[in-house]
Parts: sequence; structure tokens; C-alpha cells
Amino acid sequence: MLDFNDKYSEYLRYFEESLDKKLSSLYKTAPSVIKDAMAYAVEGGGKRVRPVLCYATCEMLGGNITDVTELALAIEFIHSYSLVHDDLPSMDNDDYRRGKFSTHKQFGEAIGVLAGDALLNFAFEILLSKKDITDGYINAAKIVADYAGYGGMIGGQVLDLLSEKSVRSDEKTLYDIYINKTAKLITAPILAASCVTGGKHFDALKEYGSDLGLLFQITDDLMDAFGTKEEIGKTPHKDEAENKLTSIKVFGADGAKEKARECYLNAKAVIEKIDDIGFLTAFTDKMFQRRS
Ligand code: IPE
Ligand code: IPE
Ligand code: MG
Ligand code: MG
Ligand code: MG
Repeated sequence: MLDFNDKYSEYLRYFEESLDKKLSSLYKTAPSVIKDAMAYAVEGGGKRVRPVLCYATCEMLGGNITDVTELALAIEFIHSYSLVHDDLPSMDNDDYRRGKFSTHKQFGEAIGVLAGDALLNFAFEILLSKKDITDGYINAAKIVADYAGYGGMIGGQVLDLLSEKSVRSDEKTLYDIYINKTAKLITAPILAASCVTGGKHFDALKEYGSDLGLLFQITDDLMDAFGTKEEIGKTPHKDEAENKLTSIKVFGADGAKEKARECYLNAKAVIEKIDDIGFLTAFTDKMFQRRS
């Protein structure tokens, strides 16, 4: 019988080892401040949900985690850059992230912007560093680029910012924001793993990723409203302060909890049919229960 926590720890160990290797490969001649800021943004404190999803999906579909080493790293670098930029004064203006100062607060705003840019570039350098690239791998890399870009995470972040100034607070607008800013970067590692293992269960996994991503963002909203700084590692009540369009604004706190449950049940119904190992099913449960 699989022990979920042991397996999660094994995935984390693998991720941290491959991360250390990549960070130690940064050019010696590059200015140390940018290397320090990049490492600061990507190291420590993160749950590594996206790499874990990539490894677990790959193994569930019969692949080996070494098939997705670069994909998992690249996605976590992109995610980390998105957080650095998300915290900037011109975006969410957040001083804390992962229990410490956000990157721009630690290194200054200009280095924060550049560290985000550098992490994004480095992600694609990592993707292209893979030996023996297959057609499936190219499809996976395309999904990563697309889902992180203007038609995905960045587009969602734009809608999120526009919503601060808008009077519209309907479900459709909220869904557009959440699918793009959050669910796409949760879905990308899952679909990338499907691509490198021959496209297995692609459509079902896309549906799973969307529901899991919506659940993830609604839970994040609930933690912003009800969690403590110690629990969430970031400043609570930021969404209300920045006039964000959130699930709590649209549905109320109880309604948001109900929506989270709906997304959880949908995600679980899809993944249970495919998951013969049990890890992703248990992972889905944990995402519903999480408080940090
Ligand atoms: C935070 O993502 C941003 C959202 C999409 C809500 P995570 O909650 O995955 O952040 P880390 O990587 O664990 O810090
Ligand atoms: C962020 O959503 C999604 C990203 C693409 C970074 P939030 O703005 O709610 O994330 P947190 O709460 O700052 O982590
Ligand atoms: Mg934001
Ligand atoms: Mg934010
Ligand atoms: Mg949030």
C-alpha cells in the first residue's frame, strides 16, 4: 500500500536535487545579485505542487520521472517567476512570500523585475537542455509555453488586475481569471507528462487539471481571508485590500467553500478512473484539505 507522505517526500527530494544541480550551473561570470535573487525566489518554502503533479502523472502513465526532470524544473521556475512579479508593487504589492520577504522587498524592485525575467528565460534554457528530444517532448514544451503565456497565466494575471478597477463581479469573469492565472499552470505539468508518455488520457487529464486548479485558487482565496500569516507565509486579507475579484466576493465565504467542494468532487471523479497507483487521488484529497 502506497504511503502518500513517503512518496511526496521522495518526489520533493528528487526535485530539490535536480534544482540544486541547475542552480549550481548558473554562469560564474553573471552578476551575483541576479543569481542570488533567482535562487532566493525559487528555493525554500514552496510546496512544489506543480513538479509533484508532473512526476506523479508521468509515473501513473507508465513513464519514469527522469523523462520529465526538465519539464518539472522549468514549470517550477516559471511558477516562481510568476510569484515574484505577482508580488511587485505594481501588481499585488505583497511584502511576504513563502514565510520570508518577497523577492523585490529583499533585493529592490528593479532586481525583482529582472530576477523574474531571468527565471523565465532560464526555464526555457532548461527545457532545451534535454538530450534525446522526442515529438512528445516538443508537444509538452509547447503546452508549457502556451499555458504560461498571454493565452494562459499571463492573460489571467491581466484579467485579475483589470478586475480590481471593474464593477463586474460575475461568475463568468471569475472563471476566466482563475482558469487562466492558476489552473493553466496546474494543468501544464499534468498534460506535459501525458505528452511525453504518448498522450495517454489527455482529455480527461485536462479536465482534471482545470478542476484541480480552480479548487487550488478558491482554497487560496479562503486562506487569504481566514488564514494567519504564519499558516500561509504571506500577508492575509490582501485580496480585500486590493479589491480583487475573488470566489469569496462572487459567492460569499460559504458559497466559495461549496464551489471548492464541487471542484474537488469533479476532479476526484475524473482522476479516480485513471489512477491505478492512488497517489493523485490522495493528492486531490490533500488539496481540498490544505491550510497552507
Ligand atoms: C501560489 O501558488 C499562487 C497561486 C496560484 C494561488 P502556490 O500555493 O503553489 O505557492 P508555493 O509555490 O507553494 O509557494
Ligand atoms: C496568483 O494568484 C496567481 C499567479 C499567477 C501568481 P494570487 O495573487 O492569489 O496568489 P498569491 O495569493 O499572491 O500567492
Ligand atoms: Mg495576484
Ligand atoms: Mg498575489
Ligand atoms: Mg491569493
